[in-house]
Amino acid sequence: MRILVINGPNLNMLGKRDPEHYGTQTLDSIERTLSQSAQELGCELTFFQSNHEGEIIDFIQKETPVSSGILINPGALTHYGYSLRDALADSGLPVVEVHLSNIFAREDWRRQSVMADAAIGQVTGFRAESYHLGLTALVNHIRSQSQ
Ligand code: DQA
Repeated sequence: MRILVINGPNLNMLGKRDPEHYGTQTLDSIERTLSQSAQELGCELTFFQSNHEGEIIDFIQKETPVSSGILINPGALTHYGYSLRDALADSGLPVVEVHLSNIFAREDWRRQSVMADAAIGQVTGFRAESYHLGLTALVNHIRSQSQ
């Protein structure tokens, strides 16, 4: 089972961004520990990060035919990225949306996710742990669908 793990704008700067909201781990470190969880869960991860919405869409369109699901932190695109939302919906793959911070406990404009209706669920507010919880839920969902 191959899962796409996608990070949007500014998430390449983790470790230097506000630790109150995003913790202190770098993206590299999150991806390394996520790879360990993937081994335990018996799935293969393909990582991608971009600061450009179109590049993320190109990646989703290219990788969808050979993938089983998408774990995504869309960064600020969460709140206004309609093209990305459509690409996720068009993929037909199960999508789990994750956030390091609790987007519902922050500024008003962060409380809306235009991705939410294209996802089977969201994990928000557990810092790096959001990715692990999201990956476990996604893999369990995919397995339950294929029984
Ligand atoms: C974020 C929340 C977004 O509002 C913000 O723009 C980010 C990160 C999070 O993981 O908490 O870049 O997606």
